[in-house]
Amino acid sequence: MVEETGRHRYEDVADTLAAQIEAGTWGAGARLPGVRKLAAQFGVSVSTVVAAEHLLENQGLIEARPRSGYYVREYSGQAPEAPDPSPPASQPTAVAGQPLVLQVVQAANEPGLVRLGAAVPHGDFLPARGLQRAFSGVGRNWGDRALAYAFPPGPLELRQQIARRMADAGCQLGPEEIVVTNGAQEAIALSLRAVAEPGDVIAIESPTFYGLLQAIEAQGLRALEIPTDPDTGVSPDALALALDQWPVAAALLMPNFGNPLGHCADEDRKRALVELLEQRNVPLIEDDVYGDLAFTQPRPWAAKAWESAGGVLYCGSFSKTLSPGLRVGWAVPGRFHDRLEYLKYAYSHASPAWPGFAVADFLARGGYDRYLRRACGDLARAVDRVRRAVARYFPAGTRSTRPQGGFVIWVELPEGVDAIQLYRRALAEHISIAPGPLFSPTRRFQRCIRLNCAQPWHARMEWALQRLGQLATDLRAGTH
Ligand SMILES: Cc1ncc(COP(=O)(O)O)c(C=O)c1O
Repeated sequence: MVEETGRHRYEDVADTLAAQIEAGTWGAGARLPGVRKLAAQFGVSVSTVVAAEHLLENQGLIEARPRSGYYVREYSGQAPEAPDPSPPASQPTAVAGQPLVLQVVQAANEPGLVRLGAAVPHGDFLPARGLQRAFSGVGRNWGDRALAYAFPPGPLELRQQIARRMADAGCQLGPEEIVVTNGAQEAIALSLRAVAEPGDVIAIESPTFYGLLQAIEAQGLRALEIPTDPDTGVSPDALALALDQWPVAAALLMPNFGNPLGHCADEDRKRALVELLEQRNVPLIEDDVYGDLAFTQPRPWAAKAWESAGGVLYCGSFSKTLSPGLRVGWAVPGRFHDRLEYLKYAYSHASPAWPGFAVADFLARGGYDRYLRRACGDLARAVDRVRRAVARYFPAGTRSTRPQGGFVIWVELPEGVDAIQLYRRALAEHISIAPGPLFSPTRRFQRCIRLNCAQPWHARMEWALQRLGQLATDLRAGTH
């Protein structure tokens, strides 16, 4: 049975049982009640319970024992602790060591690889059929406009759809405030260009997404790492301290489900960050590519919702929700609108029209919210599965984040494990991961890795995580 939300009843039953296992109601080795009993307890049919148990079995949470029923699988202890907040930086620095990133993302396209590296959702998590329909209708719906340059600010119909979606992020906008870009990456690069000059200092989260570091590096800017909490992100106090000390030209933050920590700032924190930056007249470049991927609805508001002086340059895209290959993103640059719109023209002239119209049509058809709810449920389960596998297979003392949205987790390995060595050894066995130093301009996080959880769960995924855990254990033993 499919509910209004697009979820099946058995998925809800499985989620409830998984939460009970996590909470210790059913500890490792415990036998679950029989199917009839569970069916009565949940008020569902026996076949719904059987489907839920199969799901939990695929997720590695329970195992069937012949003629005896289902048992909770053993795994090493409780869910791992989250890493500590990062320390402050001593000074702003140029960005170093980024060329390795290209290898990590290129590996994402190699056939036969287990793709735990680049933050790219597998096709199973994307609405392939709906997009195909939208693409094939573009010629018919838009005629010559689909073949022409889509000059900045981009097609009005797409901007209208984006403006409607931004209301869910707490931003009541008109389409004239939006500039369509080639993904969020271009929106971020143009935002930096609009507010900073070479040599300027940009305050960033620590760790932060390497794409932001590359945008900073490419424009000859310097980065200042601000202490970041794995659950709540940058604290206004830490940012205030940095603003007192350094001439910061802009802050580049991901308040909602930041990459790689998956942190999410609550409303008070977002408001405080925006107020602080407004008081100091420092623009905020807000990267919100994961904002729509909240595990519980409604999605959190963007920091931009609290601006009062047009100082937030919001950057979004459909790369993590519809498809990264579309390259459809946008900026809402506030009082920097005209500058950014011109820069968009100067740097890339126009955006691809066909994908832009396809996205506009996809959104206009409706059903995006319904699709998102389903995708977010799938992602929440995918993240949970990987976290559990890390708890089960990685050496004692490993910590990992517990994001409430998005699809990456950040794993801190015990002393003695070098993430770059782990990356190289894993790649030799066709497993790709993203090593921690890529997420810092000063190559911090030598024993951290980021894992992309948006992959279908199958035996090879489980093998890869088990193997990674073993490689980490070997590397650690080699240092003793
Ligand atoms: C936090 C973050 N910002 C921006 C981007 C780039 O987004 P896009 O593919 O839309 O350019 C990514 C992609 O991985 C990301 O993770």
